[in-house]
Amino acid sequence: MNEKILDSKNVSVSFRINGELQTALHKISVSIKRGEVLALVGESGSGKSTLAMSIMGLHNAEQTEVTGSITLDGHELIGLTERQFDQYRGVRVGMIFQDPLSSLNPLMKIGEQISEAIVVHDKNAPNLKGHVQRLLTDVGIINPKRVAQQYPHELSGGMRQRVMIAIALSNEPDLIIADEPTTALDATIQAQILDLIKEIQLKKNAGILLITHDLGVVAETADTVAVMYAGQIVEQADVEELFANPKHPYTRSLLRADPSNVSPGEELYAISGTVPALKDMDHSKDLFLQRIPWLSDDVVNATIDEELEVVGDNHFVRGNAWKTFEFLDVTEKGHAK
Ligand SMILES: Nc1ncnc2c1ncn2[C@@H]1O[C@H](COP(=O)(O)OP(=O)(O)OP(=O)(O)O)[C@@H](O)[C@H]1O
Ligand SMILES: [Mg+2]
Repeated sequence: MNEKILDSKNVSVSFRINGELQTALHKISVSIKRGEVLALVGESGSGKSTLAMSIMGLHNAEQTEVTGSITLDGHELIGLTERQFDQYRGVRVGMIFQDPLSSLNPLMKIGEQISEAIVVHDKNAPNLKGHVQRLLTDVGIINPKRVAQQYPHELSGGMRQRVMIAIALSNEPDLIIADEPTTALDATIQAQILDLIKEIQLKKNAGILLITHDLGVVAETADTVAVMYAGQIVEQADVEELFANPKHPYTRSLLRADPSNVSPGEELYAISGTVPALKDMDHSKDLFLQRIPWLSDDVVNATIDEELEVVGDNHFVRGNAWKTFEFLDVTEKGHAK
């Protein structure tokens, strides 16, 4: 048994767009241990879902090129056929998405959908009804018999997300990938779903990849955080370390742009500019520097090391920018160190 349930090395993903390959992920290396929650954060378009889809083998093979290595419990996933992937997807890897309504079948009762997820991988599963009800109970549904008889549209958003989690857990996965699992939910329900995810982590010892925009969710749930920008990881650290000692200017900007860090009366900071289009991503540079208006072209265009630098215990940073303006507020001119 591998301690690292997921281990990805130098994963690059390119999409064929108008006949041309454009890189969306460049040499991503992340790993997740059993029982660990790794949060993946970064603005819209940074490549978070692309990484999740690569792990689950969900990209259209004709339109997408995936290179590098992704192992699940030591087994290589890159290059598997659809049929081979079926041994992992929904079995050893469970998935939870933002919008359960689009992932659930509107015409099938909840109980049938959960049974189907179990039977697909174990035709002779004993006592299906009991198993379904146990799963629904496990995700905090107090009237499992009734819910099993209902259709998705009869349930609230929070209940539907619980059902999705029950399906994700149905085959006791080693890894759970949750892509924005609480974004569509209001704060109270969000907290309940996060508690549930944490409970699963403890009970099942599964590794969890949690994709979120919400740094509050990260602080509450994650053990480790990987910060993505323009298809690369720019910083990774244990959660307390990342919040206490962010190094990369992008991480610092994200933390500063977090609404929960704003005192009453203070204006909410927004990072200027946007993530570059795929065709404009030159991954030999620190691409975030383009968004700091006062930096000179020489600094912005400097080539940087491919490897992340080790800056502390389990703390890694990309590029040198953080050394140059360690105490500099990236938004304001003239605060040079
Ligand atoms: N199938 C695809 N074909 C072409 N481009 C794609 C495809 N999937 C994703 N992309 C592009 O790859 C980049 C990363 O997208 P991705 O969906 O991974 O971002 P994300 O970090 O998950 O964003 P969000 O927070 O909005 O969900 C974007 O520029 C997106 O347009
Ligand atoms: Mg996404």
